[in-house]
Amino acid sequence: MCGIVGAVAERPVNKILVEGLKRLEYRGYDSAGVALLDGNTLNTVKAVGKVVNLENALDEAGVKGTTGIAHTRWATHGGVTKANAHPHISNSEIALVHNGIIENHASLREALKGDGYEFLSDTDTEVMVHLIHQLRQQHTTLLASVQAAVKQFDGAFGTVVFDKANDNEIIVARSGSPLVIGLGLGENFIASDQLALLPVTRTFIYLEEGDVARITRNSVEIFDVDGNAVKREVIESNITQDASGKGEYRHYMLKEIYEQPLAVRNTLEGRLNDDRVAIDAFGDSAQQIFKDVKHVQIIACGTSYHSGMVARYWLEQFAGVSCNVEIASEFRYRQSFVHENSLLVTISQSGETADTLAALRLAKQQGYMASMTICNVPGSSLVRESDLAFMTKAGAEIGVASTKAFTTQLVGLLMLTASIAQEKGLDQGTIVNAIKLLPAKLEETLLLADGIADLAEEFADKHHSLFLGRGSQYPIAMEGALKLKEISYIHAEAYAAGELKHGPLALIDADMPIIVVAPNNELLEKLKSNVEEVRARGGIIYVFADKDSHFESDDTMRVINVNHVDDVIAPVVYTLPLQLLSYYVAVIKGTDVDQPRNLAKSVTVE
Ligand code: M6R
Repeated sequence: MCGIVGAVAERPVNKILVEGLKRLEYRGYDSAGVALLDGNTLNTVKAVGKVVNLENALDEAGVKGTTGIAHTRWATHGGVTKANAHPHISNSEIALVHNGIIENHASLREALKGDGYEFLSDTDTEVMVHLIHQLRQQHTTLLASVQAAVKQFDGAFGTVVFDKANDNEIIVARSGSPLVIGLGLGENFIASDQLALLPVTRTFIYLEEGDVARITRNSVEIFDVDGNAVKREVIESNITQDASGKGEYRHYMLKEIYEQPLAVRNTLEGRLNDDRVAIDAFGDSAQQIFKDVKHVQIIACGTSYHSGMVARYWLEQFAGVSCNVEIASEFRYRQSFVHENSLLVTISQSGETADTLAALRLAKQQGYMASMTICNVPGSSLVRESDLAFMTKAGAEIGVASTKAFTTQLVGLLMLTASIAQEKGLDQGTIVNAIKLLPAKLEETLLLADGIADLAEEFADKHHSLFLGRGSQYPIAMEGALKLKEISYIHAEAYAAGELKHGPLALIDADMPIIVVAPNNELLEKLKSNVEEVRARGGIIYVFADKDSHFESDDTMRVINVNHVDDVIAPVVYTLPLQLLSYYVAVIKGTDVDQPRNLAKSVTVE
């Protein structure tokens, strides 16, 4: 979603800002802009489309500056136009960029218009810069003006502001949308994600909710929500820079699919002792919580929600606890029942998904025994606000379509299942022994890529598709359908195979490919009956099947054999062929694989 980069330095910062925006491109956006201060001269350059358009426009304009703010916008209020792109400027004096949504923008806009402010955009953001300008007339400093303004904003924001009267100061404020300060020597930076600043620093300070900070070349002052000066932890980033390069791969998504054996290995490393899980991987107080827990409530969005759905099968089968899984945007707006000794688990790649974060904050007031997150980004809001955290070690995931984050979430959830089982005196060895084999099994499964690339040719002219699975493979079918629709734009739905005859069978014809996930487990014969129901109605079937499942390819069925794996890890293994299928279909269709239309990597607005 929207991205922010800012800098206050002695040297020109144009290139730093543009490079920072490029490193945030993966988040998804539709326009970009930059405001630069050269002494007391303020220049703004904006462009619709990719950051490279902004880069060209900047070169053409020939402007530079030693203080600057830059932004990639993912449209919420107002269309994709230059006028709506950030930065927004008030009275040629104050410049501002913003991530998030100001919910009371309409009333603020009316009031500001009444006071003579002229609006040039349709955005909710423009009210922020005019209000700060108005308050600037009543306060002696820009800091005080911003502190006064944020009290009037309802909604979420990460915002960065400067006043052209002072080229050695930017003011930043965080409420609901993350910001990280990057520390340099004689220069300092701000961004919505540390990835943007890795070429210039590896030393960071994460702002906390309600913080406002004043950043100059040589100083950083942070104030909490009550205006008290506070110190926040300084951290050294351990993210490797080359995480943001594609290497030998054509797309980040393909690279990330192939990184899965390593990502799983890294996620397991140091966390298994013989046939037991090292419970401290979840946090210091995890052991007692796992002993006492009777119910697990999982909350997540999108792909992360699918991993939670798989976990429900595992937790109820192996750990003897009941489990509910709910989409965060639903959970946060209904009155739910909190079971006795209930553990709240959020799952998120980014740790910043607005709905998941809001659901966590709500749940913390509702009497859960503890909150835990399974997350890929250290220092993210979900990690900081949860009692326990299990960090997946997938490394930076750049492709909008989540791949290695999903499989490492599944590993985290398997380890959670084994840990709870362990504390309750149940068998955990079956799970642990199976997990140890996962990296090798994933490597073997990736060898299917060429066959799947051939298969993908048959999907390129299709408009609809159906994914089927049973048991813990039903959520994998859902994840396969989500992958296909988000990157190839082919309409895809997933069904529990037993549901077919309750409606979806009516859709079956030769133009509707049916993708079936068929490991060799106790549901195989049931699944085979469902497949026959489809065949009898002229459907064309693509089966990802265990070698011993005895499906045979013929005119109406294409079979891709997957090596046998223990059923407990089968959901992780069968995810890979479905990812590869979506990837190759998207490549054949020529879509933007890494940044599919209309989507954002980190969904920081609701
Ligand atoms: O960062 P999160 O895991 O919280 O993100 C949740 C969803 O937005 C995300 O999984 C989304 O569905 C992906 N684009 C799917 O590939």
